[in-house]
Amino acid sequence: MQQLKNIGSVYCGTPAWSILNSYIEESDHSRVYIITDTNTRQHCLPKLLNRINFEKSPQILEISAGEQYKNINTCMELWRSLSQNNADRNSLVINLGGGVVTDLGGFVACTFKRGLDFVNIPTSLLAMVDASIGGKTGVDLDSLKNQVGVIREPSLVILDVDFLDTLPQAHIRSGQAEMLKHGLVRSEEYFNNCLDFSIESKNSEELIWESVQIKQQIVEEDPMEKGLRKILNYGHTLGHAIESHFLETRPKAPLLHGEAIAIGMILATYISSEILNFPKDSLEEISNGILQIYAGQHFSESDIKSIRELMIYDKKNENGRINFVLLKDFGDHEINCEVSDSLVRKAFEYYADVCEKITLA
Ligand code: GLY
Repeated sequence: MQQLKNIGSVYCGTPAWSILNSYIEESDHSRVYIITDTNTRQHCLPKLLNRINFEKSPQILEISAGEQYKNINTCMELWRSLSQNNADRNSLVINLGGGVVTDLGGFVACTFKRGLDFVNIPTSLLAMVDASIGGKTGVDLDSLKNQVGVIREPSLVILDVDFLDTLPQAHIRSGQAEMLKHGLVRSEEYFNNCLDFSIESKNSEELIWESVQIKQQIVEEDPMEKGLRKILNYGHTLGHAIESHFLETRPKAPLLHGEAIAIGMILATYISSEILNFPKDSLEEISNGILQIYAGQHFSESDIKSIRELMIYDKKNENGRINFVLLKDFGDHEINCEVSDSLVRKAFEYYADVCEKITLA
């Protein structure tokens, strides 16, 4: 029997299912609604239904899988389904899925009848180490990421790493990028351990749990992202803009969130080395390490121009200033840093150079 791990409202390991069972038994919700997507309904729902004793059968609400469905139209479908299936203010929503399901399902729960209780059961690595924790919920606005949403903590987050057995390798890598980010903003040793992360290795659950702890401790200190929590956006100012650009530019194949953030972290670390003297040898090691995991991407002049324009929509901007989180070293951050256009351009040149060196090596 695995040991129960707990921090805040997050529980991990097989015994976490008993925590959810007790919560459902004791909280006396009038009805339970489980939001899944087409993939998690097939691969993860049977396990959940096996583990939990529902007094009344829960209602299953299914959405299409994929970032392109993380929008207000999908919310409308879910709000209508909740309404047609008689959800009341004492209903419970369980979000069973990756980051799209936990972000969007959380938003639907927070807004339906001014707020229902919800529980997150993340089934992707990205959702386990990042999206399901800390109460950020929301949807994209066209190709702009997470522009509409609210912050409200779920009642519980239940982590069972066995769900990762059916997750494609590219999605494991996508979640690994957020673990690497936790290393950059907190600990060099953890960053290096995460470079070798593999779901098959013995320490995978330990590494996942370390990420959960890093994130949860930061969220507890600054739940509404007034200051410290902004460090969790390391690499995201450029990363989100890159992700949006790939989403809206055909025929480019969309990048997974973590793939875009991995590029954003190399760019942000280069900028950190120029503005805050982040050590150059560590910059090289970080860039090489990341590019061993994530394929290099080509950015043309017009790609870079459109990415710079998209950065204007970043939620961390204030008074028209584009705000970056930068690092002086591993775990030593500075928030609200202003970065010139020319330095952003130089960062892309640096990225192209390291990609080329790796290809030639
Ligand atoms: N994903 C960053 C945060 O939750 O603050």
